[in-house]
Amino acid sequence: MNYKFPADFWWGSAISGPQTEGTVDGDGKGKSIWDHWYEESPELFFDQVGPGETSDVYNRYKEDIALMKQTGHNSLRTSIQWSRLIPDGSGEVNPEAVAFYNAYIDELIANDIEPFLNLYHFDMPLALQEKGGWESKEVVEAYVAYARKCFELFGDRVNKWFTNNEPIVPVEGGYLYKFHYPSIVDMKKAVQVAYHESLASAKAIQAYHEMNLGGQIGIVLNLTPSYPRDENDPEDVKAAKLADAFFNRSFLDPALRGEFPEDLVELLKELDYLPEYTAEELEIIKNNTVDLLGINYYQPRRIKKKESTERLSDKPMPDDYFDNYIWPERKMNPYRGWEIYEKGIYDCLINVRDNYGNIPCFISENGMGVEGEGRFINADGMIEDDYRIEFLKDHLSYVHKAIEEGCNVKGYHMWTCMDNWSWTNAYKNRYGFVSVDLDNNKKRTIKKSGHWFKEVADNNGF
Ligand code: NOJ
Repeated sequence: MNYKFPADFWWGSAISGPQTEGTVDGDGKGKSIWDHWYEESPELFFDQVGPGETSDVYNRYKEDIALMKQTGHNSLRTSIQWSRLIPDGSGEVNPEAVAFYNAYIDELIANDIEPFLNLYHFDMPLALQEKGGWESKEVVEAYVAYARKCFELFGDRVNKWFTNNEPIVPVEGGYLYKFHYPSIVDMKKAVQVAYHESLASAKAIQAYHEMNLGGQIGIVLNLTPSYPRDENDPEDVKAAKLADAFFNRSFLDPALRGEFPEDLVELLKELDYLPEYTAEELEIIKNNTVDLLGINYYQPRRIKKKESTERLSDKPMPDDYFDNYIWPERKMNPYRGWEIYEKGIYDCLINVRDNYGNIPCFISENGMGVEGEGRFINADGMIEDDYRIEFLKDHLSYVHKAIEEGCNVKGYHMWTCMDNWSWTNAYKNRYGFVSVDLDNNKKRTIKKSGHWFKEVADNNGF
């Protein structure tokens, strides 16, 4: 064996409530922004397939947990849907949701799969979005009450909690580049949203620690290491540093160090984009950093200085300060068009080791989306996804190298165990260890990579 991992390494995958549960308007669930957006504008969703068309974990969780077991999982991250547990976002708890999450958690534990629970995965309850969503301090308080409720209900059995998944995405998608609801372009609001997400996370961490439940609480951040086109060009280096501030350090620093990056704050101040904040809130952020970091790594950013001096808008956006550079020799995923750069996963881990006190972390998502994966089905109905096995090997070998060099890495979760519905892309790109046949009652079949992963998990290496 070339790569042996530390004892008790977490092998598994990540999913989210809104992308897998289904039953969007059943059993007392309230509407989330996704349910609403789809009703309003189905044409924005690939093949017009909306959040009602997930793999239906709500009804099929036993079958799916058995498949997780068969693909080597000893842990799984999913998320609670806020709008299922508390239909209006604040107020009454939905008893059917409590029964569902209890049964789901218990089934995972009965199968020796440790549940990791995330509290927010892009799914603001509609009733709270109508009050401004993350723009509003009232919503921050509603989120903290919701978090407490989750800890109270499930914290006796769940020992790994996450306050938020990829908090930069609702900022970029909802307020800058229009791929999430409310789909507007407003940099000032974007900054307020980002700040409130960090504040909400710190407050949930504070609540969790006060409750003394004995587990750990963290956050899941998507990190995109930013590489300058030319390391000897100070302007390219400066541009890459700024991209890093906007998209990585904006959440890494408050979550891990309890403060916001100075260069970013300076720039936002200059542009009059600073959010509304109080000294007391900054103190809460300072004193409530995470116990654990989840890193979602998919691809890096290649950055060069802005070549045109022309402002893209009179209200500057992050990319008014740099250009994404197309690196001609880069290795691309031929089935989706994203760069594959396995060393990036190692660079993320080394960064945490060297600049963030080497706190415990794990790869909470990594994966390869494939369009038209049906073309790889063999005569037995199994998808032969050798490209995914290659992808896994390449990334895992770099995770292993990071561990050998002292990084405090506890596990590796793939995105994802089963093909799932993915926001406006719906089922366009398939990521699972298990395929889901949309034309045949969502029949599940383990892919070649799922069998391979089981062996790796069983042997704790490959
Ligand atoms: C990141 C997100 O957490 C998840 O919701 C999404 O579907 C995957 N990456 C794949 O793009």
